Amino acid sequence: MTLLAIETSCDETSVAVIRDGCVLANLVSSQVALHSEYGGVVPELATREHLRNLLPMARAVLEETHFTPSQLDAVAATRGPGLPSALMIGLKAGQALAFALRKPFIGINHHEAHLYSPWISGKPPRAIFEEFQPNISLIVSGGHTMLVHVKRELGHELLGETVDDAAGECFDKTAKLMGLPYPGGPEIDRLAETGNPKAYDFPRPMMHEPNHDFSFSGLKTSVRYFLQKNPELLNDRKRLCDMCASVQAAIIDVLVTKTIKAAKRIDVGCITASGGVTCNRALRNRLVAACVEAGFVLRLADKSLCTDNAAMIGILAERKLLAGTTSTHLDAEIQTSWALSSDAKGDVSSSLARDAT
Ligand code: KG4
Ligand code: ZN
Repeated sequence: MTLLAIETSCDETSVAVIRDGCVLANLVSSQVALHSEYGGVVPELATREHLRNLLPMARAVLEETHFTPSQLDAVAATRGPGLPSALMIGLKAGQALAFALRKPFIGINHHEAHLYSPWISGKPPRAIFEEFQPNISLIVSGGHTMLVHVKRELGHELLGETVDDAAGECFDKTAKLMGLPYPGGPEIDRLAETGNPKAYDFPRPMMHEPNHDFSFSGLKTSVRYFLQKNPELLNDRKRLCDMCASVQAAIIDVLVTKTIKAAKRIDVGCITASGGVTCNRALRNRLVAACVEAGFVLRLADKSLCTDNAAMIGILAERKLLAGTTSTHLDAEIQTSWALSSDAKGDVSSSLARDAT
């Protein structure tokens, strides 16, 4: 099966061509530079960039893979959750293409796609579902922090999520308090490398609570108060690095402790992780060490697939179509708050594409 996939849920425009589980092309246009001036994603600007980039990128992946549109067997796009106007660009473009080609269309839950990105690996990247095992999946990005029990392929249960800020948001907001540029996660990662993670003691919210939820806004507040009392710290490079390492250690302690605890409680043998924060080197190292110690298999998404991308959308879409999931209505709307609540057995009913053929 050859499939074109589109991702436009936030500030990355991405288009991929997937064929029989292989990622033949995966173009990503990041808008980080555009939004950094504003200290966060500006939805109107993101939407305009998606509009500008999407069709040239779709053309480029088809050229790169030597496919014509008529050779596609299906089209997929992220349907939610995400920024409304951004989602709309990708979803409507995907539906229009499927309608014109009279091919099935499938709308994908962005978070469900993250669950499978750790199972894409190699060069060229391909889905290694033959190695799949039930797992606890940590999805950790700028907008979300969640623990999911992936019971089987295409079958999952949300265990817990953040009750306030996401972990990436905590990185970004505490970095801003320290005067670091947006996005703050990679900056903290870089400065923390030479810092002492035990220099300052910040809270580890909800780390020992008997649930799978997270909370990071208290940590951010504690950093704010600490800096109000110690403003001179920001002018001292060594202490700034210590501060970054200490904040990072608090976030990572919570993420790793709660992920391991969930895997032990649910009794699965495997942990996976994806989302932008999974690029963090200390988090990757800590997850490796914790999984070795506890005897879990660990699958970390490749760094190029941690952040938002269409490859993961296409890989999941193909898997769903092969499993018999019915295609999505061509007039289906975006689902900005599409919860990752239970087994996604498919998106309702027959498609206009099918009707039209
Ligand atoms: O998945 P993503 O690209 O976008 C969404 O939020 O959906 O994640 C972006 C988040 C930002 O908060 C960014 O600061 C964080 O991922 N991030 C990192 C690192 N690289 C990206 N956080 C910590 N360390 C990093 N190296
Ligand atoms: Zn994402």
